[in-house]
Amino acid sequence: MEMDVMKTLRLDKFLCDVLGCTRSEARKMIRQGRVLAGDEIIKKPEYKVNPEEDEITADGQRLNFRKYEYLMMNKPKGVVTATKDGRDKTVMDLLTGRHRKGLFPAGRLDKDTEGLLLITNDGELAHRLLSPKHHVTKCYSVTVTGEIGREQQEIFESGMDIGDDKPLKPAKLVILTSGEVSQAEVFITEGRFHQIKRMFEAVGSKVLELKRLSMGSLVLDPELLPGQVRELTEEEIKCLKEN
Ligand code: URA
Repeated sequence: MEMDVMKTLRLDKFLCDVLGCTRSEARKMIRQGRVLAGDEIIKKPEYKVNPEEDEITADGQRLNFRKYEYLMMNKPKGVVTATKDGRDKTVMDLLTGRHRKGLFPAGRLDKDTEGLLLITNDGELAHRLLSPKHHVTKCYSVTVTGEIGREQQEIFESGMDIGDDKPLKPAKLVILTSGEVSQAEVFITEGRFHQIKRMFEAVGSKVLELKRLSMGSLVLDPELLPGQVRELTEEEIKCLKEN
């Protein structure tokens, strides 16, 4: 079924999907003779494209059809995880260049949290990664006030009550340093509102810094500076789908 739809994709629609342009922009490019199928200039917007096989170029650039787009962002502090916001800058405002329509952040990080954020238009994958049923592990690096030790680890492991209807699922606390200010990594399989902050609050600490390092098999690329974005590799996409 999907293949039939693919075979009948109009050239103007193909350009819109790949370049993220409007239908009228696509038609203008076609009319201006800037779009080729193989060696042939195509002037008809209704020309039928097989996106899997046809070699379409626009302005000399080969266009690869991908139904879904998967972007890794190192979310910086100070922007909100939303597609639109009346007041604050959103993670979507940080995207430059042409992208697929319908992109959204898969999961939410607080405004003052940084780190790994997946932005995609693949609703099915996003749902699977976020659904509590699938227990996808997220790892966060935290800096907190006060000492942390075995007692806090046991509380995290026990499935804490942080005032919601249900207690949390067991979480893992790996302590890196403990003192007036402590550092740790926390592994959780849910994504409740302000979850990490509330977990530490419940054991008498305050989160000073919070950064997501991984989500399932997807690990934040250490080369990505806050605010930077890159496409996921084929391997990363494949592994994420197996999560
Ligand atoms: N837990 C939090 O408290 N905040 C986040 O942004 C993510 C997890």
